[in-house]
Amino acid sequence: MSIEIQDLHVRYGEQVAVSGLSLTVPEGSCFGLLGPNGAGKSSTIRCIATTQAPTSGTIRVGGKDVATEGAAVRALLGVVPQGLAVYDGLTVQQNLRIFGGLYGLEGAKLAERVKWGLELSQLGAHATKKAVELSGGMKRRLNIAAALLHDPKILIFDEPTAGVDPQSRNHIFETVRALHAEGRTVVYTTHYMEEVEALCDRVAIVDHGKLAACDALPALLARAAPTGFHVTLKAPAPLADVRARLEAAGFDLAEVAAEGRTLESAFLELTGRGLRDAS
Ligand SMILES: Nc1ncnc2c1ncn2[C@@H]1O[C@H](COP(=O)(O)OP(=O)(O)OP(=O)(O)O)[C@@H](O)[C@H]1O
Ligand SMILES: [Mg+2]
Repeated sequence: MSIEIQDLHVRYGEQVAVSGLSLTVPEGSCFGLLGPNGAGKSSTIRCIATTQAPTSGTIRVGGKDVATEGAAVRALLGVVPQGLAVYDGLTVQQNLRIFGGLYGLEGAKLAERVKWGLELSQLGAHATKKAVELSGGMKRRLNIAAALLHDPKILIFDEPTAGVDPQSRNHIFETVRALHAEGRTVVYTTHYMEEVEALCDRVAIVDHGKLAACDALPALLARAAPTGFHVTLKAPAPLADVRARLEAAGFDLAEVAAEGRTLESAFLELTGRGLRDAS
């Protein structure tokens, strides 16, 4: 199940949020959607999720048009919104039941998925606590489970790890990784680049509502000229010499650090490399 966005525009009055965005999220990919604050990521996600109508442009989810086949699109998608969307006055279990019901689950199937949601979020011990009593990280985990109860084929996470502690962050991260490994297509938005490097195979960077780059992760990384190099000399040389020769070659050096200095290398440097029993 892929997502195809073509020439998407989103405006809020005079404010342009998305300006001619076209991109494809291939089936089975784990797709990082990156961009600075205000780049238009959440606006794009809301249009995919059918919770907001684009100003213009088309979006197809698994071949279904968001404009005309909203219900079919919503059945394919699990969207974890950036803002927490749980009912504070209801318990963890009640929240899961309500969201399951919204997706049309009932009876034994609903009970089974609520149990799955409690396991996924590891909130089983807090099932009867009201959402208002949960910590931020626990609420995030509930938010995620609630959005995935109907076992959707495509999962969209809008900054799922923002403001959570390392334990919850790790749990959320591993959850996303496992769900992707089971064959689901994932769109993942975050400001933590290391999460994207560890998780995503394809990355789009949007800026000012436009696509700045969209490529496989290794290809995208290869575009940035490196500033650090690891050079190994065939024979030992004084650090000052190496530095001087690199400078003479015209490089503007920030740091040249020596490596591989062992007691053995110091010993050999001081006593020479020739065999003693040969002399
Ligand atoms: N409901 C709204 N009404 C008016 N302007 C909005 C609305 N939602 C978003 N915007 C504006 O649209 C632009 C894009 O916002 P959006 O939330 O899509 O960006 P984002 O990439 O998700 O940013 P962030 O990383 O901060 O979540 C911003 O200038 C924002 O102020
Ligand atoms: Mg956002």
